[in-house]
Amino acid sequence: MKIQLLEKIKTIKNLNMLPAVVSKLLQITSNPKSSVQDVAKIVKNDFTLSANILKIVNSPFYGFPRKIVTVNDALVILGYTDIRNIALSLTVFDKLGYTKLININEFWRHSLGVAITSKMLAEIIKYPKPDEAFICGQLHDIGKLILSEYFPEMFKKIIDLANNEKLFIIEAEEKILDGINHAQIGSWICEKWKLPPLITRTVAMHHSPMIAGKFDELSTIVNAADFIIKDSEIGFSGDCKLPEVDADVFEFLNISDEKIDLIYNDVKLKINQAEVFLNMIKNT
Ligand SMILES: [Fe+2]
Ligand SMILES: [Fe+2]
Repeated sequence: MKIQLLEKIKTIKNLNMLPAVVSKLLQITSNPKSSVQDVAKIVKNDFTLSANILKIVNSPFYGFPRKIVTVNDALVILGYTDIRNIALSLTVFDKLGYTKLININEFWRHSLGVAITSKMLAEIIKYPKPDEAFICGQLHDIGKLILSEYFPEMFKKIIDLANNEKLFIIEAEEKILDGINHAQIGSWICEKWKLPPLITRTVAMHHSPMIAGKFDELSTIVNAADFIIKDSEIGFSGDCKLPEVDADVFEFLNISDEKIDLIYNDVKLKINQAEVFLNMIKNT
């Protein structure tokens, strides 16, 4: 089953590669020698991306007091990684935003919530790459979109089984797909798109952040963020019941209860501010 599904996913033409602009941005932003000018060159060549970046930088999510009118200013303000994240989000939505089996708006709200919370958790525990945490949060459930969009009959069976037997989606997936789940499928796509290995690994491990008896830091961050967002009832990613809190995960992160409470409050606010961001992704 694993080989068959992997082969089928490999042959989906629309998923073959990321657009050149995103690939170039990924290369440039992972090269410490590149400059803002290198990024500006790429962004300016893509009219839609430039326009969207200006809309996003002027949205309440960023809350700048004056209107930003040039791509150069937007780049300086947002920085490489935000630009890369915006470009990647728009692309993923463009490729995978048309499924009927998932309420796509609620799904993106869930993904963005997990992205924002992952970044907050990463900053609190001083994880060195909080922007990677954001992008992993954004992409963590991408495997569900692949299933619902390209394997709708299979995905319908998964949803029905989850509902009828009160299972989590991941449990139903593993029953129907012989042990395969959306985390693995998501990581196959990240690999195919040649995303950095750190992102691919985190997508693969977001439901099982422990490897060889030790927690993987970034996967644990995304796992905790996923719980917080489900517990806060922000968006919807398919599960009709709330997972039980994994005390070991929160113990590993070692964040005080006060800080966790702050995250619960902050994320609601930030998600509301990100509404413009969500609308834009929908309208591109
Ligand atoms: Fe998931
Ligand atoms: Fe999730």
